[in-house]
Amino acid sequence: MTVHFIGAGPGAADLITLRGRDLIAASPVCLYAGSLIPEALLAHCPQGARIVNTASLSLDEIAAEFKAAHDAGQDVARLHSGDLSIWSAMGEQLRRLRALGIPFTVTPGVPAFSAAAAALECELTLPGVAQSVILTRTPGRASAMPQPETLAAFAATGAVLAIHLSVHVLDKVVAELTPYYGADCPVAIVWRASWPEQRIVRATLATICGLLGPELERTALIVVGKTLDATHFDESRLYAGDYDRRYRPVGTSPRFPETG
Ligand SMILES: C[S@@+](CC[C@H](N)C(=O)[O-])C[C@H]1O[C@@H](n2cnc3c(N)ncnc32)[C@H](O)[C@@H]1O
Repeated sequence: MTVHFIGAGPGAADLITLRGRDLIAASPVCLYAGSLIPEALLAHCPQGARIVNTASLSLDEIAAEFKAAHDAGQDVARLHSGDLSIWSAMGEQLRRLRALGIPFTVTPGVPAFSAAAAALECELTLPGVAQSVILTRTPGRASAMPQPETLAAFAATGAVLAIHLSVHVLDKVVAELTPYYGADCPVAIVWRASWPEQRIVRATLATICGLLGPELERTALIVVGKTLDATHFDESRLYAGDYDRRYRPVGTSPRFPETG
């Protein structure tokens, strides 16, 4: 018996890995983390599967589900939205499983920031403009931020910021970032990236706060950075005609000569 943690993706039911889908189909128990998991994914569960929404369960109750499935010899598909490596609460569940001696696997998923960048049709890292993306959040009721991890500290780098769990404090985010990026820095808010009801608002730090309607709820990502609207950027050297590399030797004495 194994608990399979599966990144269920950002919302579109077909943005899950084939491995994740097959594990759901092979597991007689499915625990899923609330409304961000598309219902259509649950259709992959085998007939008669025990399907539990864990949104209202405590960690102890979730651990009890793992234990009951273990005692019954039944594999569990454990679904969390996006990828499991960020804000999934997987860490504390793995600790429980290790303590209980229950085996597990981890299957990655498409994170929300990737889905948002795809919706924006944007490469977040452009040569000469920005080469780093910082995935972060602001403090929440249940989660304080470690003291050095402030938006200002990240903004000082000029990297692209993908700010999660924060659209409800957009005005504070804008006030903290403007001194670093400038009022004309592009910002995009992507609601429910990849869902049928996806919405995008593009603006600048100066104008974004006035553009949001009260109807837009919290499942949104704030993306800030100069690559969002950059048109003048260097081309990658990797594909330059004169760039000598292993798979395309160039010149009279290439660095990686073909061996034969
Ligand atoms: C608890 S975190 C989960 C992050 C997830 N593990 C991931 O890999 O993206 C939830 C936050 O992620 C962002 N998010 C999740 N799904 C999203 C989507 N489809 N579109 C935009 N933002 C999303 C929102 O900021 C939301 O408040």
